[in-house]
Amino acid sequence: MLQKQPPASEKPDIASWFRTYSDHLHSEPYSFYAYLLEHEPLCYVEESNFWVASRYEDVNRVLKDPLFVREYRNAVPERQPKELPPPSKEWRPVNELLDNWMLFRDAPAHTRLRGLVSHAFTPRKMERLKPKIRSIAEHLADRIANEQQPDLIASFAFPLPVIVIAELLGVPPEDRELFKDWSNTFAKVLEGGDRPPEFVRQAGRAAEDIAEYFRRLIAERKSTPREDMISDLLAAQVQADALTEQELIATCVLLLVAGHETTVNLIGNSVLVLLNHLEQHARLLESPELTASAVEEVLRFESPVQMTSRLASVDYDIGGQTIRQGQSVNVMLGAANRDPAQFERPDRFDIRRSPNRHLAFASGSHFCLGAPLARIEGEIALAALLERFPQMRLADSKPNWRSNILFRGLESMHVRF
Ligand code: HEM
Repeated sequence: MLQKQPPASEKPDIASWFRTYSDHLHSEPYSFYAYLLEHEPLCYVEESNFWVASRYEDVNRVLKDPLFVREYRNAVPERQPKELPPPSKEWRPVNELLDNWMLFRDAPAHTRLRGLVSHAFTPRKMERLKPKIRSIAEHLADRIANEQQPDLIASFAFPLPVIVIAELLGVPPEDRELFKDWSNTFAKVLEGGDRPPEFVRQAGRAAEDIAEYFRRLIAERKSTPREDMISDLLAAQVQADALTEQELIATCVLLLVAGHETTVNLIGNSVLVLLNHLEQHARLLESPELTASAVEEVLRFESPVQMTSRLASVDYDIGGQTIRQGQSVNVMLGAANRDPAQFERPDRFDIRRSPNRHLAFASGSHFCLGAPLARIEGEIALAALLERFPQMRLADSKPNWRSNILFRGLESMHVRF
């Protein structure tokens, strides 16, 4: 475990922490965050030319201020394009998708892309999905009821959001297995860092295959529309600013990856945290009306997405330090959510916490589009599990965290009932 306050001579090498984060820190990032919050809340990592922001106030500011952008060409328009080496042929299919993700675009492209799909994710639409999600959760719970020590991630937390997003999009259920590997590869792409040639080839192939898959599905829905999101988006294509086919494909992939890589962590982390805090678990069993509030606290306490990044489009001053135009800032959502300046006793898990204005879904213009869906899925999943298995306990002695710097979630979690 990291020292909270090392002597000056042992000042930690933050660049190396980041390099090894996936390998070591992913299992216990919180002492790293506590160190950052206390000693280096906004620190510059020279070796990698990026900044790390961890305080709630700074993270929120970077995410909300339009002077911080996602596209390099908007951060330093005058330096385009000669400074950026062209992507390799193998990587190009990956970029073709990512370049059309709203997540990586700035206004006006971002506003347009988001506007064209946001109507599908309104809280009212999500409310209507509740009975369907409940029946999926109950069916999955039935299936594990007689197992000895089921892996709750593989048998419940993973399939639930995947079935839901596949149904929403209109992906045939039998194709779901295909997406597991593709989505996993994209989770690694998003993490960034070193990209050995073998991974570049694998990611390029995955991007080509998934794009081809959706191209075919879109063609099918064009000729025979159904009641699903792809058909809805196709119907909206008569509008002047409608999604192009490439944008539609990229959006489907984004929703699918978002549906695969995040909510599974919310469900898994909820169970883990509750079973590690049995007094809170008992309180929730007694007062199931606290489920929504418990989900918010899990989002804060074990945030499924730990960080994101932005680029400064001007020289930007924060507390006397200047982030230079074009420099990248890693904003540590997981650290901001443990900032004692924002949250009283931040390391305490409290399902009644109020107020709880966490940043698990980020903030500003890129605030998670799927948040209403994720919240409903989290609540229904937790309620179904607690109702069905009130005596559930962990069977693993140590949590088996996925080695990923971005997504905080468990590889597996065996439980007993
Ligand atoms: C607990 C589950 C989830 C968490 C913690 C989460 C977290 C986030 C975060 C932090 C962002 C902002 C990233 C940034 O600003 O750089 C984001 C964006 C986004 N999320 Fe989620 N997400 C979750 C579930 C979902 C689901 C289920 C969907 C849809 C199926 C979804 C779709 C999106 C989309 C489309 C964006 C991009 C929004 C934009 O760029 O305007 N998310 N999410």
